Amino acid sequence: MPETSEKKTIFSGIQPTGVFTLGNYIGAIRNWGPLQDEYNCIYSIVDMHAITVRQEPAKLRQNTLQAYALLLACGIDPKRSIAFIQSHNPNHAELSWILSCSTQFGELSRMTQFKAKSQQHADDINAGLFTYPVLMAADILAYNADLVPIGADQKQHLELARNIAGRFNQKYGDFFTVPEPFIPKAGARVMSLQDPAKKMSKSDENPNACIFILDDKDTIIRKFKRAVTDSDAEVCYREGKDGINNLMTIYSVMTGKSLDEITSEFSGKGYGDFKLAVGEAVADHLEPVRTEFSKLVKDKDYLKECYTAGAEAAGRITRKTLSKVYRKVGFVDAR
Ligand code: TRP
Repeated sequence: MPETSEKKTIFSGIQPTGVFTLGNYIGAIRNWGPLQDEYNCIYSIVDMHAITVRQEPAKLRQNTLQAYALLLACGIDPKRSIAFIQSHNPNHAELSWILSCSTQFGELSRMTQFKAKSQQHADDINAGLFTYPVLMAADILAYNADLVPIGADQKQHLELARNIAGRFNQKYGDFFTVPEPFIPKAGARVMSLQDPAKKMSKSDENPNACIFILDDKDTIIRKFKRAVTDSDAEVCYREGKDGINNLMTIYSVMTGKSLDEITSEFSGKGYGDFKLAVGEAVADHLEPVRTEFSKLVKDKDYLKECYTAGAEAAGRITRKTLSKVYRKVGFVDAR
């Protein structure tokens, strides 16, 4: 990847917290492969963010490798993008310290995710949980990323990263690119199959509410068969038909068919046929991802080669940023 290209830079961090859901896939990850032509893409598995809540070390290691393999299985090409593991590039933590000195206690205290996680993990409200958004700002600003693909839950953190960049620029002279949120054109929100008023979430207690992208065909079809619908027996997109609307959205993304086309395809047919068709379309669509993943996850050497090269490429960019930052804040040159 040429470092001086005209293309804009996209950075995204992915938490290694288990298999992606169909919601993550449709709303975000599916769009990342095609972005590689238009942008310089940098993807990091953020293991350092993960330890702000208690992790079992062996599990974290396994989840990190799994998330990395999933990223590649979903179409991220390590030759065209930079894909690496956050802890392999120490510059993130180093920049985070500098940026924390341009971040106010008050603004961190206002982060809604910190408040929510403090409640969830009341016995471990550690300083890392509090300064988490500063590390996230460092992830982004270290690469002078222009764009950051994020969901609604990360908007406040990105806004903070923008404020930190602005404040640093004001103190030390224009330096950091102020990043913008990136909302992909073809984004779609996938809802729970059991309660279509809620977003599909991997932490749902009901195992039928959520499709994981590594679920096998039978599991996927079974979950769709049990999806909550309504009593109209009419496949059409309309207010008040949340369950059917959700299934139609999913089917439309998987097949490329419009909502009208779907309505005529299933006119006169029952919900049973429709649910089966959605399940099959999803299973067929995800089949190559699952095959590629199982191949990659067995090839530890190849994965290592990829994430090592990724960390080197990442480090080459961030070392430059960091040494300029050190000079700006007044640190004595080390060499
Ligand atoms: N906080 C993000 C999440 O939980 C993950 C993340 C870490 C991130 N660093 C990032 C996302 C930088 C975008 C850019 O989903």
